[in-house]
Amino acid sequence: MNTDLLIVGGDGDLALRKLYPSLYFLELNNRMPENTRIIGMARTGQTREEFHSKIHQWLKSSIKEELYSEEKWQSFASKIWFGQADATNPESLGQVGKNYFDNDNHLVIYLAIPPMIFGKVCSAINACGLNRPTTRLVVEKPLGDSQETFLAINNELARTFTEDQIFRIDHYLGKESVQNLLALRFANDIFEPLWNARYIDHIQITVTEKVGVGNRWAFYDQTGATRDMVQNHLLQVLCFVAMEPPACLNAESVRAEKLKVLNALRQIPDHEVQELTVRGQYAGGYVDGVEVPGYRQEVSDKYEVNPNSQTETFVAIKAEIENWRWSGVPIYLRTGKRLHKRHSEIVIQFKQSKHQIFKQNHSEHRANQLIIQLQPDSGVALRMMHKVQGLDAGIPVEDGVLNFSLDEDGQKVKYDAYSRLFFDVLRNDPTLFVSAAEVQAAWRWVDQIFAGWKSTGMEVQPYKSGSRGPENAENLMQKDGRNWLNEDFELWCALE
Ligand code: BG6
Repeated sequence: MNTDLLIVGGDGDLALRKLYPSLYFLELNNRMPENTRIIGMARTGQTREEFHSKIHQWLKSSIKEELYSEEKWQSFASKIWFGQADATNPESLGQVGKNYFDNDNHLVIYLAIPPMIFGKVCSAINACGLNRPTTRLVVEKPLGDSQETFLAINNELARTFTEDQIFRIDHYLGKESVQNLLALRFANDIFEPLWNARYIDHIQITVTEKVGVGNRWAFYDQTGATRDMVQNHLLQVLCFVAMEPPACLNAESVRAEKLKVLNALRQIPDHEVQELTVRGQYAGGYVDGVEVPGYRQEVSDKYEVNPNSQTETFVAIKAEIENWRWSGVPIYLRTGKRLHKRHSEIVIQFKQSKHQIFKQNHSEHRANQLIIQLQPDSGVALRMMHKVQGLDAGIPVEDGVLNFSLDEDGQKVKYDAYSRLFFDVLRNDPTLFVSAAEVQAAWRWVDQIFAGWKSTGMEVQPYKSGSRGPENAENLMQKDGRNWLNEDFELWCALE
């Protein structure tokens, strides 16, 4: 069955910067389903040639030079059309439908527009007959800023589309390294017996960024790190780390297991929020030797920056999953902007036996760690003890690393997270998309943290740009006698 892909908001920033480059990668990898037609739709009129030239320009500026192929661009462009319409108007939308879509084809509609007009556009799609049983709708965050606003948006979608038709993107699920979590856990039987509170001391999930908020200030100031990153990306990663083995790899089983994790997250009561969470905001400093302004000093050509903003650009949370497998295992989450490194990793810290027979230990660490690097490098490392070579008396030990890099062979990655998700939506596979129930459960958990911050008046702590974040984030673990695995430990070099 052939597929028509309609991008509403087809010449907007998201579409040009992200969507067409990712679709081009499908073409480059010969993964674009045959006879796919892509229709970019916008209110402002332009010829097909003008539209192609805009996409071409963005493509060339956003992908690596070695990934550009003139031949692939030409075949990609031959699939792209431009349709002028007001997507909230059924007649206008219907006209584009008549001109470009074949009723026998599957239709995928990507809403690259602000959620506040989702409802109107969905009604127009319905009214002009484009909502057929095989039509799929793709949306992505921000899907609300609380459980309540999410439900309002979702109800608008649900008036027109069934849950099976809606594909909610979380681009972290399109990342190879995140999908590899499933392979690591469920294709390697050795981990399963150890993957629980009996053997695991704690889990750390870190996602740090070097970038600031720049021109997104107005959006970001209403959002903050918790809504922007934790509610979706970090909690989705946590679900893959903590969920029970799904019965099979279909959407129903995977989503059901993820939902159980989200529902089992312990709600943090107001009186514990100061102890279990850290809010930070970047002050000026240096990133890669370049001086950068603080969050409240960012200059935006579009908006007034609030010099008293209390929006967090960093957050750390000590979470817990209250179920049989995980009860008592702290899960430390942290993410922030303008930090010293772009770096995402998961650390599974195993417990250590109290009885030690090795008298000489040359490392500070002894308990085993499984370190899963998500980006920019991706790989898995098992930190374990071994004998120090030599004729020293006894059996002195130290720690070393068993390393498995997923970036090996100098393989050039020729696609991105969105390409993978497009590939799946075009094939009608929703496994790597997020259900409404998951989004709702994630908001429920995040909402109570905000309620706690509000009721206790917990303010953001400044941290220097280019640092590791606020000091309290270190304390969050240290007061439990634990430490973040900070990247001073050069995992990958240790092996050479
Ligand atoms: C987005 C956030 O969802 O994810 C951005 O809105 C953030 O603020 C980005 O920078 C991070 O994605 P990645 O793939 O670069 O880790």
